[in-house]
Amino acid sequence: MNRNQVNPHNLTWQNTSVGKRDRHNRNGHESFVLWFTGLSGAGKSTVANLLEQVLFVQGIHTYLLDGDNVRMGLNSDLGFSAVERRENIRRVAEVAKLFVDAGVVTLTAFISPYRSDRRMARSLYADREFIEVYIDCPIEVCASRDPKGLYRKAQAGQIKDFTGVAAPYEAPEQADIVLHTDRQTPWESVQQILQYLVARELLPAETLLENSRETKECPR
Ligand code: ADX
Repeated sequence: MNRNQVNPHNLTWQNTSVGKRDRHNRNGHESFVLWFTGLSGAGKSTVANLLEQVLFVQGIHTYLLDGDNVRMGLNSDLGFSAVERRENIRRVAEVAKLFVDAGVVTLTAFISPYRSDRRMARSLYADREFIEVYIDCPIEVCASRDPKGLYRKAQAGQIKDFTGVAAPYEAPEQADIVLHTDRQTPWESVQQILQYLVARELLPAETLLENSRETKECPR
């Protein structure tokens, strides 16, 4: 429910004295969500994790919400039906919104396979605050990587509704950033995201400079 909707529970939005702008001014950067979407094994967690490290060492306030981790806590009551995935994404989008309100650059790594769910997530944010990052990787490559052995199990019929095998993945049509992890290293993907963020003045230009200075030390 948003604060402008009629609500049946007699709720009143409470304005707080410390606002998002105050937090941005103190932090020296804006806050927004980088919404990673893609198949299991495409590299969402890998790229998001490396990007968070790069931002964190530069003093940017960050937090990574990762599918498997959130599903082991807040969303441990949810399975993988379309309805449960929608609720998973709704909760994550709401939590990420709180982080963004708290001034944090927030990264989410969830398969989020349905376009309508990602649209619903986006609708919670101002335009500039929601950046969809599509990790585009052919399913054959994801299945051959199979980092958790789940494709093998799904193909053997041991996992119900596995995305890409027995449940759909609806690729974004207009993602803000598209990464091809079958032919880009994680480091190249991180560079591409940083360039996007700096070009849109979401992060200070120094982020890129600092980062390229450290390029030589960063593992590929
Ligand atoms: S989402 O579709 O609801 O966005 P989410 O990203 O939270 O999925 O969780 C996906 C993770 O759950 C996978 O990385 C995998 O480890 C695990 N998993 C277990 N069962 C399934 C399934 N049926 N489909 C996809 N992922 C599954």
